[in-house]
Amino acid sequence: MNRISPFEPSGDGGSGPRRRTVDQKGIHDIRSLPDAGFDGQWASLIFQPALKDRLLAQAVLNFTARERLQQVFLPLHGIILLVGPPGTGKTSLARGLASRTAASLGGAMTYIEVDAHALASASLGKSQQAVTHLLGSVIGEAALSGPCIVLLDEVETLAADRRKMSMEANPIDVHRATDAVLTQLDQLAADNPQLLFIATSNFAGAVDDAFLSRADLVVTVDLPTPEACRAILLDTLRRIAQVYPQVASLQSDPLIAQAADCAVGLDGRRIRKATLSSLAHSKQIAANPDLLTARAVLEAIEHAQAERSRLEAKP
Ligand SMILES: Nc1ncnc2c1ncn2[C@@H]1O[C@H](COP(=O)(O)OP(=O)(O)OP(=O)(O)O)[C@@H](O)[C@H]1O
Ligand SMILES: [Mg+2]
Repeated sequence: MNRISPFEPSGDGGSGPRRRTVDQKGIHDIRSLPDAGFDGQWASLIFQPALKDRLLAQAVLNFTARERLQQVFLPLHGIILLVGPPGTGKTSLARGLASRTAASLGGAMTYIEVDAHALASASLGKSQQAVTHLLGSVIGEAALSGPCIVLLDEVETLAADRRKMSMEANPIDVHRATDAVLTQLDQLAADNPQLLFIATSNFAGAVDDAFLSRADLVVTVDLPTPEACRAILLDTLRRIAQVYPQVASLQSDPLIAQAADCAVGLDGRRIRKATLSSLAHSKQIAANPDLLTARAVLEAIEHAQAERSRLEAKP
């Protein structure tokens, strides 16, 4: 863990512990980049290499070219948006991307993760002020002290589609909060070319069109392909085997290949969780996970699929 206090980029990009005071409302995490933990997340994510390459190229371009481009004609807002179903790796991808961007550019950067829910849940009339303060003051100041990458996780909470909120409990407040986000983003983009926002969302439809239009790149992160399902399952088993070495022998078992086929349609999080839950298949295995069997893994994946079908059939 490599957290730091606001406005004090580490300067060395190392992964040693940093002084931290993340008591600012709406901020979930501040640390210096590159970060070894984030690099690990990036490496463990199984996607087509082209997806990671494209994201990294866009992020690097933001830092190399944005200050040289005339915004009116060549508008780069410094926003990358990842959209896709839950559990497909968007947040992990965003964190890894932040770290790999800093590493690619060879310098330290500050990483700030915004807690959108804390801002949006501010009491009536307060979220606009909270958003303005966070983006305008906190992030604005951080960006002034050096290159900075900000994760806006679940951005639909902050930049909610203003057309869809007439029936909401506090429509005016949410409307103003979205307006405030857009105003602040424009200001930040104009003032800070060394700032990049990486946003994630489960529902592109819930994100305000004006935010979507400001994104320099929108990437859809889909459910894993059959090959990726297999690779995620094997990676999870490999990590279990690092702790319980007997589990390594399961990887070549035909039932594991069957389990991988059965996993198609599950998201990456569910595949990892289902594989892990096979350790609770029986009291004996739970007591000694080295006793894990390929059949237990297959049954855990089948169970996860059955659960998914039940949930999807819910009215
Ligand atoms: N393609 C993938 N390859 C490897 N692991 C994956 C993949 N997709 C998801 N995972 C794993 O699933 C877990 C959840 O990932 P993450 O939280 O990044 O998903 P998310 O898309 O942000 O989900 P949500 O929309 O619910 O916030 C992580 O442990 C991640 O490693
Ligand atoms: Mg997420």
